[in-house]
Amino acid sequence: MSQYSLNIPIYSQGSLPEGSRFFYAESRILPAREEYYLYYDASVDQLAMVKASGQEKPLVVDLVASHREWLRQKLSPKYDLLAKACGGVQGKRILDLTLGLATDSFKLVMWGAQVTGIEKNPMVWALVRDGLIRWRQTQPSFDFELVYGDALAIVETYIKDFDCFYIDPMFHLEKRTALPKKKMQFLSAVVGENRDEDFLPIIKKLIDSKKRVVVKRHPEAESFSGIQVKNVYEGKAVRFDVYHSSL
Ligand SMILES: C[S@@+](CC[C@H](N)C(=O)[O-])C[C@H]1O[C@@H](n2cnc3c(N)ncnc32)[C@H](O)[C@@H]1O
Repeated sequence: MSQYSLNIPIYSQGSLPEGSRFFYAESRILPAREEYYLYYDASVDQLAMVKASGQEKPLVVDLVASHREWLRQKLSPKYDLLAKACGGVQGKRILDLTLGLATDSFKLVMWGAQVTGIEKNPMVWALVRDGLIRWRQTQPSFDFELVYGDALAIVETYIKDFDCFYIDPMFHLEKRTALPKKKMQFLSAVVGENRDEDFLPIIKKLIDSKKRVVVKRHPEAESFSGIQVKNVYEGKAVRFDVYHSSL
């Protein structure tokens, strides 16, 4: 499928700018009818996901701001649970099967991993792509590839090229004790839920292929049943379960 012909509803103030490097030139500008929609603001050349009721802050992927925050917090992979769960990050080839807003992938790349991220929701994918376009103007060597698609359908073609496979499924928010961040609520409303059983066969296949699989969980959530967790990295708000055969 061509990445550039997704039929995503885009709303814009007036027509798209002449010669815009934006790929939405082919998309239709539709009247507001869905609950969530993408909105292109030509004045700041930025795509946002907006709730039609207008009650929530628009969701954007701003990697420049993420970078600023990353520098401010002086985040180090030495103390980061995800980096540890991946078995280190420098030079690691990591496939993020559930890219979302690329927050986790962004950190991994900043710490020196080569990351490919797969996102199956076209609106979320478009937001990340928009963020990447602006980010690459400042950081052309950012080692990240963005893929649109269903990871469960295409992951097999990637197995040999990666060391570590990262999964952060979208689970029913009520299963969590603490309310998730606003961004996650927004995302959850748009993309819907994942079920453990959807990921299980591919995790088993990856383990058989001697790959490392890292799964993000809520601290109180059960681990995947039917496969043995080898390592657990647990924090207050999140837990990472690591699966592998015998690394
Ligand atoms: C919990 S969010 C991931 C958040 C992400 N770790 C971050 O840092 O922003 C889950 C995301 O995975 C996507 N997703 C779920 N199942 C998928 C699949 N089979 N293939 C690709 N993406 C998937 C959802 O659309 C959603 O955007």
